[in-house]
Amino acid sequence: MTLTAAELNAWWMPFSANRLFKDSPRLITAAEGAYYITDDGNRVLDGICGLWCTNLGHSRSEITAAIQQSLSQLDYAPSFQLGHPAAFTLADKLLKLAPAGFGQVFFTNSGSEACDTALKIALTYHQLQGDTERTHLVGRKQGYHGAGFGGLSVGGINNNARLIKNRLEDVSLLPLPRSEKCFIKGAPPADPHQAEALLEIIQQVGGHRIAAVIVEPVACSGGVLVPSENTLSDIREICTENGILLIVDEVITSMGRLGAAFSCEERFGVVPDIITTAKALTNGTIPLGATLVRGNIHQTFLDKSDTLIDFYHGYTFAGNPAACSAALAVLETMENEKLFTRALDLNELWQQSIHQLQGLPGLTDIRNYGFLAGFELDPVKNSPGLRAWKIFRECFDQGLLVRANGDVIALCPPLNVSTEHIAEMLAILSRVIKREFA
Ligand SMILES: Cc1ncc(COP(=O)(O)O)c(C=O)c1O
Repeated sequence: MTLTAAELNAWWMPFSANRLFKDSPRLITAAEGAYYITDDGNRVLDGICGLWCTNLGHSRSEITAAIQQSLSQLDYAPSFQLGHPAAFTLADKLLKLAPAGFGQVFFTNSGSEACDTALKIALTYHQLQGDTERTHLVGRKQGYHGAGFGGLSVGGINNNARLIKNRLEDVSLLPLPRSEKCFIKGAPPADPHQAEALLEIIQQVGGHRIAAVIVEPVACSGGVLVPSENTLSDIREICTENGILLIVDEVITSMGRLGAAFSCEERFGVVPDIITTAKALTNGTIPLGATLVRGNIHQTFLDKSDTLIDFYHGYTFAGNPAACSAALAVLETMENEKLFTRALDLNELWQQSIHQLQGLPGLTDIRNYGFLAGFELDPVKNSPGLRAWKIFRECFDQGLLVRANGDVIALCPPLNVSTEHIAEMLAILSRVIKREFA
């Protein structure tokens, strides 16, 4: 271990069991390809792309070179009332990958900011349209839309909001987007419960009062919850009928994760009004998020705002030159290596491989969609989250990085991973689960 207890004290680590970490720290000091390297020289296979970020694998020379070139030419440029070329080029490239009708991209530094931006755009849009009663927002139980106050308010992960007693109140949540049945391969069969729940909210709140519905195509941080394939299109239809904007949060599900640049239209046949992305957009190298909007929404701001500035919103570092250059290199590499669709090529193998773990002791469900998987575990009595945390730690020590979300272990491997790597991941995970429940 390279750091002493005193040296570990100052950093208050996010979403972490700080006491447990600092009693027994694990430090990462390098990364290459599909592996992390720890401070004591161990190689750890990255089964979760860091934190759902490094879809192209680690330390890609194309991305490093693009960042270095960008930094050496233009270290920083303000984007309030000024611009730089890479941001315009990137916005244009993203729109070419987005569904038809999308017209503009608003850059942020993170997925949280992309979601807060989307919510603010939706709320402002209705005000500008003169639809001034539309202030209500609809999220979903176990949904995660970031750590900002907006995202937190429409998110549905209990511990994130439990002690925050002053958040947005004018909010409803749809029920869990999952089937009662377990060990389903891919999306569960068609099921009307999400549509029925949305109609019920509309009846209670009044459709004319709802500004937007925000959902993830697959709720990843909530435990890889896979809705039935009709869910998103049902929600779209109801939103359209009621003048409600649909925000699809693709912070994880875009950039090839579900087999497309953006999954909403290509995988679910749905064109939303607003899309958010982040994470793998720069392969995790430099913070960058983006909120994509339909052209008509942006046009409303241009036509109807009665101030010089059409949207009073933005972030100092958002869309900075190095981040945009990194993202341009990512998009080019994804295209050159055909990685936007690799999740589709791998689907059969992935699905078969992960479902072979069914029958392991303590494993109560396996869920998958695209190149994602969730393994639900029997919790430790009166200690929610502890079981998955123990498995996460043991996997790391055995050479595999996974993510513990509640009592679900998530896998989200690099899109260019080999079949041997998949086998290695699942061998380590099986071994650790067996030992935990022995
Ligand atoms: C769907 C979704 N939205 C938003 C976020 C927040 O992104 P960030 O952590 O970059 O702020 C996340 C993070 O996991 C996410 O999964």
